[in-house]
Amino acid sequence: MKLLLWPALLALTLSSLSLGVSTQDHAQAILEFGPRVTGSAGNEQARIYLEAQFRALGYQTRRETFSYPRFDDLGSDVRVGQQLLTGNALQDSAGGEVSAAAVRVPGVGTPADFARVDVRGRVAVVSRGQIPFIEKTRAALAAGALGVVIVNNSAGDFRGTLGERVDVPVLGVSPTVGAALQDGQPVTLRVRVREGNVQAVNLIAFKAGVDRPDVLFGAHLDSVTGAPGANDNLSGSLAVLDLARRAASTPLLARSFFMLFDGEEDGLLGSRAFVKDNPEVVKGLKAMLNLDMVGVNVMPLSVSGEAPLVEAARRAGVEASVGTPGSSDQVPFRQAGVPTLFFHRGLDSNYH
Ligand code: BES
Ligand code: ZN
Repeated sequence: MKLLLWPALLALTLSSLSLGVSTQDHAQAILEFGPRVTGSAGNEQARIYLEAQFRALGYQTRRETFSYPRFDDLGSDVRVGQQLLTGNALQDSAGGEVSAAAVRVPGVGTPADFARVDVRGRVAVVSRGQIPFIEKTRAALAAGALGVVIVNNSAGDFRGTLGERVDVPVLGVSPTVGAALQDGQPVTLRVRVREGNVQAVNLIAFKAGVDRPDVLFGAHLDSVTGAPGANDNLSGSLAVLDLARRAASTPLLARSFFMLFDGEEDGLLGSRAFVKDNPEVVKGLKAMLNLDMVGVNVMPLSVSGEAPLVEAARRAGVEASVGTPGSSDQVPFRQAGVPTLFFHRGLDSNYH
């Protein structure tokens, strides 16, 4: 692609970020489907809706599927007397039900802390912080605990990951729930988890005959559990749709791929799958432009990436910086040698 085109391309990208009325309408319609966790009904409904939008703009669409194992918390709780209190299973916890007396572990749950109490055959209640969840859990297991409750060290509940499979239920709770778990009190931990393969789908929109695009515009459509994912990242997904709308009548710009990635929140899995499955496309790309969280903090828009594209952006009057902040779908492309630009509006107080 000629250097002359870059200013036009960047201006186009930026203009799409001032979301218009119809983008708001799309947002409202799609948010009705609920969270778009990979493999969920909301995720698929959102994709069907957007597929139809791309087609209405004269693009063809293609789905590329991939699958991966994932751990899901199906809803977990702890019963104390008549009270049923909720918590979140830590990722990699065992499922199951355990009824035993609670033991409050002093300190933060090091092996030395566990040596000061007797948790054998009981449920260990330990506070969050200072050492990783898995170290607290290993110490609890070594001391013979049947289950572990980790109490948050700030207000509210939390989600966490152990990082390796353990054989007992491990539940994370808020300080309020933690306070109800008194020493010696009988409790029933019920941790309901599912481990299975999740089917994920990347969506590609392109004009007929475009199989070796110069540019790939991308955004992830999936969201995390328990959040609507309006900013992260319906905002970027709808900006990509709007880019496709504006590019539709510009033959050179329409020689692009417009992509909605799945599985980003589970580790950039959609972009990784695309890079792995489409080496020829990736080799021919002159740029990958990724949009993630562009809906809040109207200023400043942050644009960052590799030097040649950053220079082009600057020539077009865009404030851009060389660098690679943020973990999103540009990363696998950059690792494959494609120049990337990452558009976002920084941290959101409602992030995840
Ligand atoms: N949207 C975020 C990344 C992000 C954060 C963009 C702040 C702009 C500003 C993305 O969906 C995310 O949460 N990424 C994870 C890592 C990923 C490998 C699961 C993250 O940043 O922790
Ligand atoms: Zn995101």
